[in-house]
Formats: sequence, C-alpha cells, structure tokens
Amino acid sequence: MEKTQVEVPENVIDLGLGHPSLSLLPMDMLKASADKIFQAKDPTFLQYGPDEGGGYFRHMLSGWLSEKNRAFIAPESLFITNGISLGLDLVCTCVSRPGDTVIIEEPTYFYVYEIFKNHHLNIVSVPVDREGMVVEKLEHILKEVKPSFIYTIPFFHNPSSVSLSGNRMDQLFSLCRKHDALIVSDEAYQFLNFSPQFPVSLAIRGMGNKILSLGSFSKILAPGLRLGWIHSTPDLIKKIAGTGFVKSGGGLNPFTGRIVGAFMKNGSQDTHLASLKETYRKRAERMLAALKTCLPSDFEYAEPSGGFFVWIRMPEERDARDLLCKCEANGIKFKPGYLFSETGALHNFIRLSFSYYKEDRLSEGIERLAKVL
Ligand SMILES: Cc1ncc(COP(=O)(O)O)c(C=O)c1O
Repeated sequence: MEKTQVEVPENVIDLGLGHPSLSLLPMDMLKASADKIFQAKDPTFLQYGPDEGGGYFRHMLSGWLSEKNRAFIAPESLFITNGISLGLDLVCTCVSRPGDTVIIEEPTYFYVYEIFKNHHLNIVSVPVDREGMVVEKLEHILKEVKPSFIYTIPFFHNPSSVSLSGNRMDQLFSLCRKHDALIVSDEAYQFLNFSPQFPVSLAIRGMGNKILSLGSFSKILAPGLRLGWIHSTPDLIKKIAGTGFVKSGGGLNPFTGRIVGAFMKNGSQDTHLASLKETYRKRAERMLAALKTCLPSDFEYAEPSGGFFVWIRMPEERDARDLLCKCEANGIKFKPGYLFSETGALHNFIRLSFSYYKEDRLSEGIERLAKVL
C-alpha cells in the first residue's frame, strides 16, 4: 500500500498539515502531458541531462516565469532542482563552510533548522512582524556578523503568512549591498496569492544584489514531482551547477522536467494554478469565518492574502504544547509555535493550515479547537 509523508486517521482533523489535498493533484492533466512525451519517441529525457537542467524545460520555465514576474528571465539564469528543500541544501554546500553563520527569520519554516544544522551552520534569528523581516534588527546583526547568507520567505510566509513590504524589501536590498551579503529567498508560495497579479520574485526586484530565488512546483502542481528551480545571475547558477553530485547525476530531474515542460506548454499549468488559487482563497475564507465566530476575542491573527496558513497569537499564559495534547485527545491537531523557533520560544503561537481540507471539514476542525479552548 502506498503511503504519504503524514498519515491522518479518518477521525482526526490535522490543521497542521501544509500539504495539498490528494484531490487537488491533477492526475489526468499530468497523464496527458506524460503520454504526449512518450508518444514523441524521443528518449533524450531518459538520458543523463545537462547539469543546469533540461534545455526544453528551462526554456519553458523561462517563458512561464517571465510572464508571471513581468520581466525577462533568461534560461541561463535558471538551475533546475528537486524542489526548494534540495535547493537549500545545495546552496549550503556551495556557499558555506561548517561553522559559518546563516541569518534566518523567527518564526521560520521548521525544516530549515535541520537543513542548516546538517551543514553545521550557526543560526542567528531576526524577528518577523506584519511587514515581514524586521530589517532594522538585521542591520544591527550585520555590524557584528558576516553570514554565508540571509534566508528569507518573502511571500505568504510559513508560518506567519505575512509578505515582506516594498519598503522593507528596498531596505533589505540596500543593506545587503552595503555588506555584500547574499540573500537566499524561499519563494514557495509566490504564486499562491488570492489576487490576480503575482508578487515579483526578489531576484528580479533586487537586481544588482546577490540573490538566489528558490521556487518549486510542490505547491502549485504536486510535491511528489520533486521539481523546482533556482533563479539568479548566470555566474551563481554556474557555481551551483558545478557541484559534484549535480555533475555526476547529469542534472537533477530531466525526466519530470520534460513532462512538466509539456504541462506548461499546453496551458495546463496556468489552468491548474488558477483553479488552485480559487480553491485556497475559498478555503481560507471559510477558515477565517469559523475563527471569527469560534475563537476567544483575545486571540490575534492577520488575515492571509495568499499561501496556506493562519498564524495565531494566543495570550501569554496559554501554552500551545498543552493545548495540542488536549486537542489530540479530541481529534484535532495543529502545529505549535515552538517548532518555528530555533530556541523553542513562541510557546503561545499556533499555525493552522487551510490547504488540506475542504471547507466543511475546516469549519468542523475550528469548532473542535474552540470546544477544547
Ligand atoms: C517555506 C517553504 N519552503 C520550502 C518547502 C519545501 O518545498 P519543496 O517541496 O519544494 O522542497 C516548504 C514546504 O512546506 C515551505 O513551506
């Protein structure tokens, strides 16, 4: 029997899961693209590929990203990855040495702690508020520390759902130029905004800075594809493509890239993305409506305008760990705040996700949570 990363029993509602529902994975559309590639009788995509990624796929991705970002992105400025997770690992391999320091946000995506610790990096955190990373605090840190890079999630942040404001972005760019610091921008949720126009990638907006923007098909198509990209200047892309294991394996994902290239070419990616955006918007709306009626009035949260998450601050005296124990006994789960902090702080925060369940199940989940509270 095939299994997924997290198995949720039928009677439990796990609002901690930042995954798409299985029903949102477009089997038939992907099969049509795969059929087309296999019918073409050209087996090149089954061979070791170029280090940077397959030529056809990079070309298609260049066109797709250029349109979404309203700026030309050359194929030479793209490197194809197995997703952002591997992209981050690869960045650590290429630009850091054990004992170096990396600056991250707090809160931040919890798995990056493990990735950075695997590379024996020291972690220094900068807080996040409703405008994203507090760049003023970063400025103090950069006076003391020369980091390998600064890791940020600028769009629909995981877990806080905020986006870096235009002002903060400009401050970040000018500060990093002054200190010659590399920005590693995790843009997993860039295309999952609820409004029609997509935010522009940091690698475009901050042109002239040293920036690696990491994107992925995990949230806009299917995580199991393990497909993503790094967008940067051709010299940095060459450096990443020159890594030993990339060269040894002939690029990272020629097979999947070729199929997803065809998926983009026939318009399926755009059709699917438009439908996902609408689905997630409606799910977020339902979760917010339920939160409004069910949560105590001293719980605070910002309404997300994209992404997967609602990040809730409870009063100081509440502890998310205790609450989770009680919730689990009542068939409801979430992610407690301490997971998103390097020091295990943020005890009174919880992260809810609206990506995995349909509307009625989301309402039921919030009702269960409210009952425990
Ligand atoms: C901020 C962030 N970065 C990266 C990932 C993982 O991305 P990928 O599947 O492309 O490795 C996630 C998944 O939840 C995420 O939230």
